Amino acid sequence: MAGDLKGVILAGGLGKRLWPLTKITNKHLLPVYDRPMIYYPLSLLVQAGIKDILIVTGGNHAGEFLRLLGNGQAFGLKHINYAYQEGEGGIAEALGLARHFAFGKKMIVILGDNLFERSIKPYVERFRAQKKGARVLLKKVEDAHRFGVAEVRGKRILSIQEKPLKPKSHWAVTGLYMYDPAVFNIIQTLKPSARGEFEITDVNNAYARKNQLQFDTLDGWWTDSGTFDSLLRANQLVARQAKTTAGRGK
Ligand code: G1P
Repeated sequence: MAGDLKGVILAGGLGKRLWPLTKITNKHLLPVYDRPMIYYPLSLLVQAGIKDILIVTGGNHAGEFLRLLGNGQAFGLKHINYAYQEGEGGIAEALGLARHFAFGKKMIVILGDNLFERSIKPYVERFRAQKKGARVLLKKVEDAHRFGVAEVRGKRILSIQEKPLKPKSHWAVTGLYMYDPAVFNIIQTLKPSARGEFEITDVNNAYARKNQLQFDTLDGWWTDSGTFDSLLRANQLVARQAKTTAGRGK
């Protein structure tokens, strides 16, 4: 049972890399094959047993999330929590808005534009058993320079570099993060990065420095969908999967 864990979906931002598609809507409402992007992270959390979920959105057309998802009946939920991020302060700032919602509980955080082929349940269960700290999922990729990249030694992540020109490994840090409540104290100590945002990579590095950052390597495909190429790839991967999986509910 993962009922003691909170879920947070980060679905803000202006989606600038997808202009002009995102001029008239929020990135996470764009279609990925036969459903809006936000459906995927939401179903992933629910499938992993997480029922108490906060969606942090912002930017354009935030109100449309309510019209689309309502109280989450289509996902078997009774209620969805919403928070609004003013401005463009980055992923870590958006997560900071979850402090009151988390209320001292551990949480599973997912970026609203990340899609995973398989259930995250095994990783979530491992995090439940973890006494403190954080946990991330790593995936081997060819285009590591587009992501946070982990430098790994044995069972340890030494550090993570955000979108390095020369990646030290092929291990991309996926947009699925698991945190203990100490994350909010870490967020308060952050300084904006060169692109003027509070980076989730800085949060993860703070845990790594304390030797409290654990990881799993991910089975199955994973993709983001925040650029034209990755959005296309997400559509193709989901379409292929939908055709081989009978009885996908909506
Ligand atoms: C974000 C994170 C990056 C992570 C990626 C996963 O990047 O900053 O560390 O690897 O999500 O999708 P973004 O694509 O939002 O710039």
